[in-house]
Amino acid sequence: MAAKKTPLKSVIKASDKLSALYQNPMRASRSGALFSAFPYPTKISPEAIALFIAAHTKPGDTIFDGFAGSGTTGLGALLCEDPPQKLRDEAEKLGIKVKWGARNAILNEVGALGSFISKTLTNPPDPNAFEQAAKDILKTAENEEGWMYRALDPDGNEGVIRYIVWSDVLQCPNCRKKVLLWDACVSLEPASISSVYTCPQCSFETPQNDVKRATQTSRDDLLDEDAKMRERRPVYLYGATGTKTWFRPILAQDRTLLRKIKNEAIPDSVPNVSIPWGDLYRSGYHKGITHLHHFYTRRNLIIFARLCERTKHYKGEIRDALRFWLLSYNASHATNMTRVVAKSGQKNLVVTSAQPGVLYVSGLPVEKNLISGLRRKLSTIGKAFHLIHGRKGTVEVRQQSSCNIDLPNGSIDYIFTDPPFGGNIPYAEINFINEAWLGCYTDRTEEIIVSNSQKKTLVDYQKLLTDALKEYRRILKRTGKVTLVFHSATAEVWNALQSAYKDAGLGVETASVLDKTQGSFKQVTTSGAVRGDPVLLLGKRPLGTTKVSTDVWDVADKLWQEAILAPDPEEQVAQRLYSRLVSYFLENHQQVPVDADVFYRWFTEQSITKELAGAKT
Ligand SMILES: C[S@@+](CC[C@H](N)C(=O)[O-])C[C@H]1O[C@@H](n2cnc3c(N)ncnc32)[C@H](O)[C@@H]1O
Repeated sequence: MAAKKTPLKSVIKASDKLSALYQNPMRASRSGALFSAFPYPTKISPEAIALFIAAHTKPGDTIFDGFAGSGTTGLGALLCEDPPQKLRDEAEKLGIKVKWGARNAILNEVGALGSFISKTLTNPPDPNAFEQAAKDILKTAENEEGWMYRALDPDGNEGVIRYIVWSDVLQCPNCRKKVLLWDACVSLEPASISSVYTCPQCSFETPQNDVKRATQTSRDDLLDEDAKMRERRPVYLYGATGTKTWFRPILAQDRTLLRKIKNEAIPDSVPNVSIPWGDLYRSGYHKGITHLHHFYTRRNLIIFARLCERTKHYKGEIRDALRFWLLSYNASHATNMTRVVAKSGQKNLVVTSAQPGVLYVSGLPVEKNLISGLRRKLSTIGKAFHLIHGRKGTVEVRQQSSCNIDLPNGSIDYIFTDPPFGGNIPYAEINFINEAWLGCYTDRTEEIIVSNSQKKTLVDYQKLLTDALKEYRRILKRTGKVTLVFHSATAEVWNALQSAYKDAGLGVETASVLDKTQGSFKQVTTSGAVRGDPVLLLGKRPLGTTKVSTDVWDVADKLWQEAILAPDPEEQVAQRLYSRLVSYFLENHQQVPVDADVFYRWFTEQSITKELAGAKT
C-alpha cells in the first residue's frame, strides 16, 4: 500500500492561523501587469506578498519594507484592499483566515531607481490621462523619427524594422582576415549559435572565445574625441509590412539609412556621463564602453533622448509616469545588451531582452524598434496603473538607507522584506543606466552588498545588515513579525544572515519556501543555485536553542524521507531539499553547515547508491 503523503513535519511550527501559509511552498508567479510593469532584479510577485500581508495583518495596519526595490511589498499591501478573485481563491484554498481591506505601507529603498519605481507604481496618476499623453508622444515620434525605422521588405514594399541583429567582427587567427561572428558561428533553420568558430574563408576551427575581436577607432561626437570600440556591423533585419512579418540579410539601402542617421545630431539631452564601473566590468565585452551612450546604437540613442525630451511638456505625476514607462523599456530593450538566443527546435533565432543581474553585451546585440516596443509596454503599464489607481490604502516611499530608519519605536505592525543576497547583485551598478537618464544616483555608502570594488567584505555586509535588522526590531510593535525571503548557495552567507538577525534580537519562528515558478536567470544558471527561496518568519524574541540532530547528513536524510511522503514531487529535487536543509538549521538556531554544491554531490551519490540497492532487490 502506498504511504500516506503528508506535509513536511519539520516546517510546521507556526500558529494554527498561519501554519497553512508556511506549511507548503508559496507559489509566486512571474507574470501579470504588476510584476511585468518594470524589470527589477530578484523581485517577488505582489500577489504572493499580498497573501502574507493579509494573513499577518488587519485592515488599517501599517506594513514596512526596508529593502523595497521596485515596491512589490507596497503593491501587496494595496492589493489587500480589493483583492483579485485569484487571490481570494488562493487564501481560501490554503485555509488562511483573512480580513481583506485597506492597509498602509511605508517603504525604504536606498536606490534612486528603486525608490522612483516604487513611488510611481504604488502612487500612479490617472491612468487615462497617462495613456493619452503616452500615445501623443508615440504619435509625434512616429511622425518625426519613424523614418529611421523604415525598410523595404523582400517584395520591395515599404515596411517597418522590428529589430536588427548586429555582429561583432572577429580577426581570424589563421588567415588574419576580418570575419563576422554571424558568418563564423550562426546558422538558421534550425537556429544555432555555435561555441566553435569556423572561418568561412579558410575553414580554420577553434573555440569562439579564443578568437580576437576586431576594434575600430571613430569620432565620438558627444565626447568630441576619437574612441576605440569593438567593431560591429548590422547583419540581419527582421521587419513587418502591415501584419506580415519577414526577415532578410542587410542590404545596401539599410546601410544608406545608417549613413543618413550618422548626420543626425546627438540631442543635447543625452547625459554625458562616464560609467562608474564596479564589480560587473568585464575587460572583454565592455571594451571601449566608458560612457552611458556607448551602450546604444546611434539610432536608438537619438530616438530615446527625443522621447525623454517630450516628457518635459508634462508636469508632476504624469511626467513621472511617462519617464517610468520609457525607463521600463530602456536598459533591458533599448541598449546593446538586448540579445538573440538559439532555442532548440526553433527555425529562427529568438530575440530577448538584456540578461538580468549583469551588464552583459553579447557578440550579437540586437537593435529593437523603440516606438513599437514602447507601444506594447504602454498596454502593460496602463493595466498596472488601472489596477492600483484610486485605492484607499497609502504607500509612502522614502529614498533612505534602512541602517537608520526615520520611524518611531513600535510603530509598525508587520514587515515583509527581501534583503540583498550577499554579493549576488550590485543593484546600484546595474541601475546606473536608468539612473543616468533620471538624473539622480544611488549613494552606495550603505548599500548592503559584498563587493570587491566597494571594498565591502562579508563582515561589512553582515554589520550593515545587522544595523538594518536592529532598526526593524526597534520599529516593530511588541507582537510584530518579519517575513524575510532570502537566497544563497553558500553557507557563509546564510550564517552571516543568521548572525545579523540574532544580533539584532530577532529569532526564527518557522520557515518555508517561496517557489518563484520561473527562476530568475542567476538562480537557474549559477552553479549551485538554490531552487525556491527560503522564507523565514522572525519574531522579536530569539527562541531558545532546540535540541536537534546536528549531523548534517542525518538531517539531510531525515528531510529526504519526509520529502518522499510530501504531496509535491518538487520536494524531492536536490535544490528544494537544500532550501529545506538551510531552513531546518536556521529554525533550530544552528549554523548552516554546508554549501549547496557539497550538498548536491552528496545527493547524487546517495541517489546512485539507492538506485543500485533498488536494482539488486
Ligand atoms: C532583493 S532587492 C529587493 C527587491 C524587492 N523585493 C522588489 O520586489 O523589487 C534588495 C534591495 O535592497 C536595496 N538596499 C541595499 N542596501 C540598502 C540599504 N542600506 N537600505 C535600503 N535599501 C537597501 C537594494 O538597492 C535593492 O533594491
